[in-house]
Amino acid sequence: SSLASKNAPTGLAPAAWATGAGTDPLARAQHGQVGASVSRIDGPLKVRGAAPFAAEAPLEGLAYASVRYATIPKGRIASLDTAEAEGAPGVLLVMTHRNAPRMKPMPVFGSAPKAAGGNDLPILQDDRVHWNGQPVAVVLAETQEQADHAASLIAIGYEGEPALTSFAEAKARGTEPAKFMGQPLGLEIGDPDAALGHAAYRVDAVYRTPRHSHNPIEPHAATIHWDGVNLRVHDATQAVSHTAWSLAQIFGLDEANVHVTSPFVGGGFGSKTLWEHQVLGAAAAKLAGRPVRIALSREGVYRTVGGRTLTEQRVAIGAAEDGGFKAIVHTGTIATTAHNGMPEPFILATMNLYRADSFRLGVDTVELDMIANTFMRAPGEAVGTFALESAVDELAHEMGIDPIELRVRNEPERDPIKGTPFSSRNIVAAYRAGAERFGWSRRRAEPGTLREGEWQVGLGCATATYPYHRMPGGAARLTIRRDGTAEVAIAAHEMGMGTATVQTQIAAERLGLPLDSVSFAYGDSTLPGMVLAGGSQQTASIGASVIAAQRALVAELLKLAGNDTPLAGLSPDEVGALNGGLAKLDEPDRFESYASILERAGRDAVDAVGEAVPPKETERFSMHSYGALFAEVRVNAVTGELRVSRFLASYDCGRILNPKTAASQFRGGIIMGLGLALMEETQFDERTGRIMNPSLAEYHVPVHLDVPPIELIWDDKPDPQAPMGARGIGEIGITGVAAAIANAVFNATGKRVRDLPITLDKLM
Ligand code: MOS
Repeated sequence: SSLASKNAPTGLAPAAWATGAGTDPLARAQHGQVGASVSRIDGPLKVRGAAPFAAEAPLEGLAYASVRYATIPKGRIASLDTAEAEGAPGVLLVMTHRNAPRMKPMPVFGSAPKAAGGNDLPILQDDRVHWNGQPVAVVLAETQEQADHAASLIAIGYEGEPALTSFAEAKARGTEPAKFMGQPLGLEIGDPDAALGHAAYRVDAVYRTPRHSHNPIEPHAATIHWDGVNLRVHDATQAVSHTAWSLAQIFGLDEANVHVTSPFVGGGFGSKTLWEHQVLGAAAAKLAGRPVRIALSREGVYRTVGGRTLTEQRVAIGAAEDGGFKAIVHTGTIATTAHNGMPEPFILATMNLYRADSFRLGVDTVELDMIANTFMRAPGEAVGTFALESAVDELAHEMGIDPIELRVRNEPERDPIKGTPFSSRNIVAAYRAGAERFGWSRRRAEPGTLREGEWQVGLGCATATYPYHRMPGGAARLTIRRDGTAEVAIAAHEMGMGTATVQTQIAAERLGLPLDSVSFAYGDSTLPGMVLAGGSQQTASIGASVIAAQRALVAELLKLAGNDTPLAGLSPDEVGALNGGLAKLDEPDRFESYASILERAGRDAVDAVGEAVPPKETERFSMHSYGALFAEVRVNAVTGELRVSRFLASYDCGRILNPKTAASQFRGGIIMGLGLALMEETQFDERTGRIMNPSLAEYHVPVHLDVPPIELIWDDKPDPQAPMGARGIGEIGITGVAAAIANAVFNATGKRVRDLPITLDKLM
């Protein structure tokens, strides 16, 4: 009502913000920056080709690296002749296990807070081969072409040993329960077998998803040099602090001696962490005494950067006459290796989507002699929702009820496993809104009955979901200068998702400054904080850190302001940012600008570091984002050609901070889900453990012609437990998409495809 409340500064309902509980509904109204469709601030640099990527750091005397990869899955190098390569034009050095510096293995992800390694195998320390594709030699030369040519001249003889590369054979030898970050990936509630036995309706099927390889537009690369004991790495990474710490362990350095920067990243999706190439590049640079650029070829990414492993998932659901779930069983097997710790946790979505009287959820693993698998966008949920949400559709068909209705009848009131309340859950409303907009009422319940000439048309739906995460260790530094500009600095990442833009909006809003007065420093391991661009948690983590830093900064400013100010005697909790200065929350006339405070204090700038409160909200609440997905497909009855003709996603992801960058994240995720549904498949030779299609010519991803119009709607309801009300949107987009498409294919054709990808041979 009053001017004062209208001006209540951004997010400065201090008590609520400090605990991470609550969001300020007035924040958007005040400055109009958060929630605005601001274009990417890095966009102009990128379209002009002026954004320097990791392989483009201009260093004096740069040497270029090329990697040779093993061609057997297991055994040892029996003979090695590098003479011809060493004599080739431009060659500076050939590095093998014979002459590589001594290094410790990579600290494997999850083994320590800042461990970033994809595996913990020795790197060029012995003659052992652990997977088909392992780096066995590195050539440094004056040009990339000279290095590549010389690498081809190294003569390597192998002594193979029996290797386990067949999934079926490994399963026959026995599986083990999987652990994820030290926690078992399985649970049982009640007696699901008995409940299934007595259920009025039941589905019980096995779903399979293949291996997937990472294909960011920018292949992995680093430019590296040493200055005495100081290691400088221009990297393409989603984990600068983790990479710096991990490299320090490997080379026996102090963490402070390693400086990793990564200002621009051409896509990560979980793959841009620490792999062999950065270690090899640093080792070769050390050996040669020259700066080194190591840029993996596309094939090199397939050989040395892990992807998503395959899954074989059983989903059984038993329902009562009224459709209420009596039992949910979601179990199965994945393949991993002995030297990494990332089982694809496909049961995660099943742990919160539906109520049921009984559950059995579990992931089992076998260990193969293959490249270590790793995170890929929504690890677990992307493929787990394919199985679960296909099974729900199968059950609805079995029961003869609408699949949305079946989901609504099994909507839980609290977290079905943990029993905690949901922080915010509006999935039913998202279904209602999406169904209305998409024209769901036009769907024919009987499959294979809607035809347009040769084309069979079908509609399908599925639920998308991804948890809210916020990792501990968040910190940020805020600086305000007398000229009215400000900087927020945090060791965060911009992989193309809009982080720099959205965080600039947030910082500007919190400081009461216009957007163009604020800069966001990120992608540098020397900056405060430790924030992984993973788990869709960067936005919330940075937000909580900036909230803390701003509180610290307000305290500093009040100290500097002293007593000769309208702010005299006020505590930080009574003060908020407003129009380039600070004001009393309920009395905005008591105001002094930042410039005035700094000028009176004789200071050019003031800064403060704040540490985010620990992420306790996820202990007290079940926090997840949701989406209701709708697909329309057309399957050619003569050729089997499958086209997704329309797609709509209705999201419930908390507050949307920037609709433009958010839409791009959702769309990108959905397109990746389209690839998961229809084409992506790493061809793995089960006899030799070798990836057979290591290029975008043979590993298919969607192109523009494969992508239909994608309509997006969202509720924009702030999550009261998340800083800024935002839950993160990087990964949810890929989830549920494959099931929505598979369910639409069933509706169009009556054919239930349970093995991804849905290629046309499966529809003939
Ligand atoms: Mo994501 S797979 O957490 O980068």
